[in-house]
Amino acid sequence: MGPPTDAFQRPLHDLRISVTDRCNFRCPYCMPAEVFGPGHAFLRDPQLMTLAEITRIVRAFRALGVRKVRLTGGEPLLRADVPELIRILRQEVGIPEIALTTNGWLLEKLAPALRAAGLGRVNVSVDSIDDATAGKMNGLGFKVGRVLRGIDAAAAAGIPVKVNCVVQRGVNDHEIPDLCAYFRERGHPLRFIEFMDVGNTNHWTGDRVLPAREIVGLVHAHWPLEAAGPAYRGEVATRYRYRDGRGEIGIISSVTEPFCRDCHRARLSADGRFYTCLFASLGWDVLAAARSPRTTDAGLEDFIGRIWRGRMDRYSDERAEVLAAGETRAKVEMSYIGG
Ligand code: GTP
Ligand code: 5AD
Ligand code: SF4
Ligand code: SF4
Repeated sequence: MGPPTDAFQRPLHDLRISVTDRCNFRCPYCMPAEVFGPGHAFLRDPQLMTLAEITRIVRAFRALGVRKVRLTGGEPLLRADVPELIRILRQEVGIPEIALTTNGWLLEKLAPALRAAGLGRVNVSVDSIDDATAGKMNGLGFKVGRVLRGIDAAAAAGIPVKVNCVVQRGVNDHEIPDLCAYFRERGHPLRFIEFMDVGNTNHWTGDRVLPAREIVGLVHAHWPLEAAGPAYRGEVATRYRYRDGRGEIGIISSVTEPFCRDCHRARLSADGRFYTCLFASLGWDVLAAARSPRTTDAGLEDFIGRIWRGRMDRYSDERAEVLAAGETRAKVEMSYIGG
């Protein structure tokens, strides 16, 4: 049997792995401090996938078509073994493209080691370059300068950087031009993300979402834009070039212009459950299978392949109907599944 495709003929190409559900930030749109406080039960160490377990599971995904792995969290750089994991996935498992999504707090220190390990690209979250707004959006009052130095360090180490900015109406939308100006100058693509209704705790409401078309209009009024095609098939961001040739922006419009049609992303939570959608409520316990001495490599591939073949997820396409019907689905938290 060839590589699996799902019920809508979508191949399995990307794997996003959350390596920890912990984070050193408390962004209210992701891990509100009142929910993820001292009383919150994070995963315990024995529940987390070890390097050897991740390696075994990724080998199986690779055999089924995965060519790109993105490490996420929580905050992935809280795990000290991330550089070693990258090295193993590149050199021993043979994954051609390894990327990382981080809040950037630990990047200044770790950039050279990540580069040496074989990290191909890094996406860094920057919701604001103003300390007051940034401090509000990371939930802990942390200043943004350290994150910006992390980005400089990654670029200096030779790691291409993209910047992620979650836009919330009335919170940071007034800073869109300043953010564009800052990252245009430094040559890093800046992607604006529509605030999404992930998880169950981030107080999402539709009026907090700044629609993609408004974001593009706002930027275009300052620096004229033109559409640029996707950098690869199924790219999450829609790209626009500045007409003056000074770089590009992207918009991730899961709410107003969903992109499920081309979604070829699988997700692994930090405790090794396989989710076929960011908005899924149930994951398949691939780690239990990988830990069992009875599971052969072929058996593990078969288990994962069957799940992908049965996949019918297209939550963002269905969101409007789901919300209009007043349906409340239990969803997993972003920090657990990794975005
Ligand atoms: P590259 O295109 O490889 O640079 O990365 P990416 O944009 O796919 O990954 P990143 O981790 O930077 O995610 C950016 C935003 O896109 C985050 O808010 C993610 O939650 C969101 N995102 C990524 N994949 C999906 C998806 O399959 N569905 C939805 N709804 N959102 C996604
Ligand atoms: N909506 C949109 N993006 C989100 N992220 C976290 N929570 C949300 C949300 N509710 C972003 C982070 C990071 C990426 C992994 O997901 O800011 O850039
Ligand atoms: Fe941490 Fe990223 Fe979630 Fe913010 S968005 S709390 S940095 S995982
Ligand atoms: Fe893929 Fe689910 Fe996101 Fe749609 S909502 S693009 S199916 S992860």
